[in-house]
Amino acid sequence: MEKHINCALLFLASLLLFLQGASASAANAADVVAPAEVVAAAPAQPNLNDKIKVFTVATEQTDGYRRYIRSAQVYDIEVTTLGLGEEWQGGDMKGLGGGYKINLLRKAVEELKDAEDTIILFTDSYDVVFTAPLTEILEKFKESGAKVLFSAEKYCWPDKSLADSYPAVGAKESRYLNSGAFIGYAPQVVELLKEEIEDTGDDQLYYTKIFLDEAKRAKLNIKLDTQSRLFQSLNGAQNDVKLEVDLDSNQGVLQNIDFLTTPAIIHGNGPSKINLNAYANYLAKTFSGVCTFCQEYPLELNEQELPIITLAVMVNQPVPFLDMFLAGIEKLNYPKKSMHLFMYSNAELHDELVQSYVTKHGKSYASVKYILSTDGLTESQGRQLALDKAKQKHSDYIFYVDGDAHIEDSEVLRELLRMNKQFVAPVFSKYHELWSNFWGALSETGYYARSHDYVDIVKRNLIGMFNVPHVTTIYLIKKSAFDAVKFEHKELDPDMAMSDSLRDAGVFMYVSNERYFGHLINADNFNTTVARPDFYTLFSNRYDWTLKYIHPNYSTQLNESVVIPQPCPDVYWFQIVTDAFCDDLVAIMEAYGKWSDGSNSDTRLEGGYEAVPTRDIHMRQVGLDALYLKFLQMFVRPLQERVFMGYFHDPPRSLMNFMVRYKPDEQPSLRPHHDSSTYTINIAMNRVGIDYEGGGCRFLRYNCSVTETKKGWMLMHPGRLTHFHEGLLVTKGTRYIMISFIDP
Ligand SMILES: *[C@@H]1O[C@H](CO)[C@@H](O)[C@H](O)[C@H]1NC(C)=O
Ligand SMILES: *[C@@H]1O[C@H](CO)[C@@H](O)[C@H](O)[C@H]1NC(C)=O
Ligand SMILES: *[C@@H]1O[C@H](CO)[C@@H](O)[C@H](O)[C@H]1NC(C)=O
Ligand SMILES: *[C@@H]1O[C@H](CO)[C@@H](O)[C@H](O)[C@H]1NC(C)=O
Repeated sequence: MEKHINCALLFLASLLLFLQGASASAANAADVVAPAEVVAAAPAQPNLNDKIKVFTVATEQTDGYRRYIRSAQVYDIEVTTLGLGEEWQGGDMKGLGGGYKINLLRKAVEELKDAEDTIILFTDSYDVVFTAPLTEILEKFKESGAKVLFSAEKYCWPDKSLADSYPAVGAKESRYLNSGAFIGYAPQVVELLKEEIEDTGDDQLYYTKIFLDEAKRAKLNIKLDTQSRLFQSLNGAQNDVKLEVDLDSNQGVLQNIDFLTTPAIIHGNGPSKINLNAYANYLAKTFSGVCTFCQEYPLELNEQELPIITLAVMVNQPVPFLDMFLAGIEKLNYPKKSMHLFMYSNAELHDELVQSYVTKHGKSYASVKYILSTDGLTESQGRQLALDKAKQKHSDYIFYVDGDAHIEDSEVLRELLRMNKQFVAPVFSKYHELWSNFWGALSETGYYARSHDYVDIVKRNLIGMFNVPHVTTIYLIKKSAFDAVKFEHKELDPDMAMSDSLRDAGVFMYVSNERYFGHLINADNFNTTVARPDFYTLFSNRYDWTLKYIHPNYSTQLNESVVIPQPCPDVYWFQIVTDAFCDDLVAIMEAYGKWSDGSNSDTRLEGGYEAVPTRDIHMRQVGLDALYLKFLQMFVRPLQERVFMGYFHDPPRSLMNFMVRYKPDEQPSLRPHHDSSTYTINIAMNRVGIDYEGGGCRFLRYNCSVTETKKGWMLMHPGRLTHFHEGLLVTKGTRYIMISFIDP
């Protein structure tokens, strides 16, 4: 483990030197890594970098370029990059273009025209990765017998009419020349580059014409690598290749299954870039037992000079548990003075909470701007406005967090910053579900497709950092990618538009699951017409519901060695729910408002008659019966089993779950009675001495009263026989209790 990290760090150092233009020798790094092993195992090899000159053209250090250079470094391949920092002259590479590459290369290799032993390897860089060292590349080139060997592809491009002029090939072979990678002896390559071409001319067409000229082809001994022995072009070849990933090390090998070759240079030409992105997550020793790529983060945060962040909090729709979401935002470990806060609410339900967050915490941020649903901005306008603010405030990054992404690791922002990517997101998924904030693959139509590794990434069976085609909900974007991001699109929703624009611009979207950063809540079927909508979501958001509504001390009471208080004989007292539970449930009942009239006639009951009537509302009346039965099963039953030994009824049955209201001028008390239950639970919903005075429960057989009830605590006692009891007089205020008659 240690060794991998050292290796990665050294490698990183050399990569940085390399990027800075110093001619770092990767061999040095390798020497330092594990001297004993390296010296013993490897007989002195000639440095093939002297013999094979590798060139690429890149005007910008895109993510694809960085990936390419990294793969070269992994295999000790020294690359000369032509055109770096210069303005691209080669036209729009989506159509024709690329003559510029030829002109740059010609200039760079001219002086090698007599160097008969020198070999020139040219590759594109933005969509290419190396998967083998130069020894293997050389061997494969020599086996071809060509003086110049071009990569081949399935499509004849850019001039389809030339297709028939190509030499015939066998079944499954790639017939057509691809200019993205070729290798040849220096004199022949210089000769090949001799003809004139405009910077905006098409390089593939240039080479194609030479190849199709039989005299020139013969003279230069040009061949195409039609069986992908050395080069694999991926466009149109999805079914020809297979990624084999070793289960222990997670290292991958891309094989051509038609010819059983393992090509050394993989090219995601044309639309196959997405496939290359997926394969490359496993190629070039991205993994070697651990995620080596993950260890290569260059950014150490300087506390004195932290990056400036625009924090864009996006509440695009009604979501449950926004209060807990905002608590997660508030707890982010990052100085607020280094953050510009932008908040967007597109849900009337949440305007108040958003506004109150701004009121309470806004002043600590460097600046604040907020948009409420009444402002009428669409989500894409909201997202764009956040980005505009980031630019205007000269932010180094923008961190978008949507209202359904609950941050649990307050280090998340710092961790993402350390990853030093143009775009990086933490993997968030719905609790114990496979629904996440990224897609592993795209379908033909640009929508979700499951990748081979999707489930393992979401479940964190596979830990690392992955380049994926689509990300939503929570992500960090670096300044250098701001201009590439577009949220507005005439067909796509804002997230898909963003992913689309970033793919287009060649900005890689990385997701990391190296830590568990948080989870998504489930906003599906969120019913916002009810008084306290969060309360209704136990079935859709069990985890968050439990966090919000179940007493934090609940589980300690399940420990056999913890003594449960008994205020009266066989009356047990538990901490079961939170203040939020009580407040929300009382609010739901009061909003409903149809308290029973306290008479003996009760149409809600089967017989229509209630012997000991209270002023109450049944859970069924507010649509909570099923939820409450689940609550009884999940949280009440285990406590019952602790105190009434040997009684197991799963699930507990209860026909009567209701809230009782005691008030001096309404119904202040309840006469002694038995409950028709095996056992009864009674949860105090508010505070004695504060919300009301008097009240409590008296068990007549024992002459024992519980008057100091505690909000959120539950009394549990046998029902039918022993525990004849009464509700004591409330003298002031209103007392609420929540009752269930269990197993009647
Ligand atoms: C939302 O809740 C109300 C009140 O319980 C109910 O009448 C309505 O049918 C619910 N709507 C949906 C879509 O579930
Ligand atoms: C949980 O129990 C501990 C120990 O009994 C107590 O100190 C603490 O206040 C309880 N927490 C809450 C929220 O009541
Ligand atoms: C149960 O409580 C005992 C005594 O407080 C403690 O030592 C033990 O670790 C607890 N067990 C569990 C599983 O929490
Ligand atoms: C019941 O208890 C109260 C005080 O707790 C006491 O004053 C009263 O005498 C008791 N009644 C009987 C019948 O024991």
